Amino acid sequence: MKQRNLGGEGLAVSELGLGCMGMSEFYGAENDEESIATIHRAIDLGVTFLDTADMYGPFTNERLVGRAIAGRRDEVVLATKFGNERTEDGTRLGVNGRPDYVRKSCDASLRRLGVDHIDLYYQHRVDPDTPVEETWGAMKELVDAGKVRYLGISEAAPETIRRAHSVHPISALQTEYSLWSRDVEDEILPTVRELGIGFVAYSPLGRGFLTGQIQSPEDFDEGDYRQNSPRFQGENFHKNLELVERVREIASEKGVAPGQLAISWLLHRGEDIVPIPGTKRRKYLEENAAAVDVELTEEDLRRIDEVAPAGAAAGDRYPDMSTVNG
Ligand SMILES: NC(=O)c1ccc[n+]([C@@H]2O[C@H](COP(=O)([O-])OP(=O)(O)OC[C@H]3O[C@@H](n4cnc5c(N)ncnc54)[C@H](OP(=O)(O)O)[C@@H]3O)[C@@H](O)[C@H]2O)c1
Repeated sequence: MKQRNLGGEGLAVSELGLGCMGMSEFYGAENDEESIATIHRAIDLGVTFLDTADMYGPFTNERLVGRAIAGRRDEVVLATKFGNERTEDGTRLGVNGRPDYVRKSCDASLRRLGVDHIDLYYQHRVDPDTPVEETWGAMKELVDAGKVRYLGISEAAPETIRRAHSVHPISALQTEYSLWSRDVEDEILPTVRELGIGFVAYSPLGRGFLTGQIQSPEDFDEGDYRQNSPRFQGENFHKNLELVERVREIASEKGVAPGQLAISWLLHRGEDIVPIPGTKRRKYLEENAAAVDVELTEEDLRRIDEVAPAGAAAGDRYPDMSTVNG
C-alpha cells in the first residue's frame, strides 16, 4: 500500500484508510469480533490509517479500536474527533468547541483508545457559539503537550478553514466526497489546495449505496441511520439507483466492482486525497483495498464524469443540512 502526505506538517498515511464508525453505530447490527478481525486484516494489508470519533457509539467505537490496536499501536496512524457532544446513553447535547471541553475530550479519547498520543485529532463540527480561534488555541496546546501529533477539521466552511489554519496548520480536512457528493469541488477543495491542506474523503462509497448492494429502502435493518437520510428515501432512492446502475456499467466493462470504481475515482482526483471507506467485514475490506490497483484512463474518467456529474444525486446528504455547515 502506497502512502500519501496530508498537509505540510509531515503527516503520511496509507493511501486508503479504514472508517471504523459503522462497526459501532449507524449501519446495522454490530459484530465486534469480525470488526476487530477487519482492523487486523487492514493493518496486515497496509491500510493503517484508522478513523474513529468519540461520538461513534457513543464512545464504544474508540474502545473497540483501542482493543484492536493493543500491541500494534506503532503500526497505525490513529485519527479521532471531538465536538459532537453526547452522553453515554446516546443523547446528543450539541456541538461543543469550548477550550475546556477540547482538553477534557482529548484526555477521554486517549483513555478509551489506550494510547499516549493521537496522530490526527479533528474538530468534528464547528461550534457556532465558540470562535474557532479559541477551539484551535486549545487544540494547539494539545500538540505542544505531545498528546496529539497533527490537527484536522471536519465539514468546515472555507472561511472557517482559513481562520483555524492561521492558529495552527491544518493537516487534513475531512468532508464527504464521492461520486454522489461532489459539492466540495466548488469551493472547499480549491481552498484546501491553496492552503496546502490534505483532504480525507469520508463516506467514499456513498454510505454503501455506490457499491450497488443496496437495491431497496427495505434492505436496511430496523434503526439503520440511512432510513432517515433523504438520499435513501422514496423517489430519491430510485433516482439514485439509476446513477449507481450507470456507474456499475462502467465498472463491469473494466471488470471491477462499482465500489472499487468509486474509490479509484477518488484516488485519481489528486495525490492530496485519501478516501476512508468504512466496513466491519474482512470481505468488503479486501475488495476495497484492491481498488488501489484499479487504473483509470482519461477516457474512463471522462465517462465517469458524464454519468456522475457534480449535483447528480437526488436529495440532501443529511436529514438537517444545518448540522453540516461549519
Ligand atoms: N467526519 C464526519 O462527519 C464523518 C461522517 C460519516 C463518516 N465518517 C467517517 O468516514 C468513514 C467512512 O464513511 P461511511 O462508513 O459513512 O461510508 P462508506 O465508506 O461510504 O460506506 C460504508 C458502508 O458501505 C458498506 N460497504 C463497504 N464496503 C463495501 C463493499 N465492498 N461491498 C458492499 N458494501 C460495502 C459498509 O457495509 P458494512 O457496514 O456492512 O461493512 C457500510 O454500510 C466512517 O467509518 C467514519 O469513520 C466521518
